[in-house]
Amino acid sequence: MNRIQFSYYSSTKQLTSCYKKLFSSLQNLKSLNPSFQVLSAETPSNPYPHVNHNKSLTIEGTSYKLDDQTNVSPSILSKLSRNLHLQPHHPLYILRTQIEQHFPHFSYFNTLNPIVTVQKNFDDLGFPKDHPGRSKTDSYYINEQIMLRTHTSAHQLEIFSKMNKKFLISGDVYRRDEIDSSHYPIFHQMEGAQIFNMQNIEQEISEDKKYLISLNSTISSQKTPLRDNNEVNDDTIISSNNPIQSCHPIEQVNYVIQHLKFSLNSLIKKLFINHDENLKIRWIDAYFPFTSPSWEMEIFFKGKWLEICGCGIVEQDVLNKAGQNDKIGWAFGLGLERIAMVLFDIPDIRLFWSHDERFLNQFTNFNDNKIIKFQPFSKFPPCIKDISFWLNDQDFHENNFCEIIRDIAEDLVEDVKLVSFS
Ligand code: DAH
Repeated sequence: MNRIQFSYYSSTKQLTSCYKKLFSSLQNLKSLNPSFQVLSAETPSNPYPHVNHNKSLTIEGTSYKLDDQTNVSPSILSKLSRNLHLQPHHPLYILRTQIEQHFPHFSYFNTLNPIVTVQKNFDDLGFPKDHPGRSKTDSYYINEQIMLRTHTSAHQLEIFSKMNKKFLISGDVYRRDEIDSSHYPIFHQMEGAQIFNMQNIEQEISEDKKYLISLNSTISSQKTPLRDNNEVNDDTIISSNNPIQSCHPIEQVNYVIQHLKFSLNSLIKKLFINHDENLKIRWIDAYFPFTSPSWEMEIFFKGKWLEICGCGIVEQDVLNKAGQNDKIGWAFGLGLERIAMVLFDIPDIRLFWSHDERFLNQFTNFNDNKIIKFQPFSKFPPCIKDISFWLNDQDFHENNFCEIIRDIAEDLVEDVKLVSFS
């Protein structure tokens, strides 16, 4: 049994109502998972009508049976339909479309359902049964077989099976996590993959690389030239710790590795072309069950290396299961929030979820020649007060009034407007 005790102290009404809402949510968790006991609470009306007490849950018209594995919470489910990456002018939308422009002949999948089978999210990609990512403390389960995807890689096999040779998938992904300024249990990823015919790989790759170079030089002639490779630090080597797959001839695999690194380095340089800080990128070895060799790409920001992407050469087993036995290729998964936070100077990951127009309106005039920097605003909603008064003084000047306000309220008042004068 989980015992959770909350204490709060505040005299404001606002916090009292938060506290009540919290209890309502706890009651709902109890109906999702019987081992969860709320020790003391009022009995609230059910604010989440999609949860019924026959142990099933209806999400967007589909009913799911609940079981001991269920751990999704109403607050997570309520975010399922936000689709921030599809909301015009949202920073995640802007970033997604910029990345899509870098891969112009790819197929784009932006509306795949985040509710997937455990099979798709883990088994199809070769995750061992005891992989820590599968645990209930790390992932959100609707029931034993159905979960919220933890990564966009969950769709790789399905899309490869449709005989797609190059594609991008973007979407919301869900991981149970601490909540602070850089962690949130929902974030967005963009998955990219490109596969080539094993037989004429040299030709396919060189044609494609020429194309990518021409794409980049068009951009560099319009703007400042792309920063050169000196800022990319890559001393990874193929070794038994990060091996190529035994079914892959070294010559072929080297072409694919080069193409992958070129595609990602040029993407990141392009995204950051107008960024004021000097960009440093580094490649490090990594491990993923569905790629070998595998790497992570990091960028240096505010004195720290930030991981922004995992990638590698697709496990042949995944391609074979998709009926693409004669192909070889790469895949990557980019974390969109991480990149957007650096690019737009957004200090807190929770801001992406804001409904506040003071956040959303900041990005409406985005064009890719000029990156917009986020301007901080108060955590509290704006509060507008009207004041009317009579004055005998014929020489009234607005500035005198503003001076009085500034003396009393200091910086709490953001704007003063004269509405009418008669
Ligand atoms: N899905 C991985 C994650 O969320 C990232 C990733 C790594 C995606 C390697 C890929 C890949 O497509 O090839 O951590």
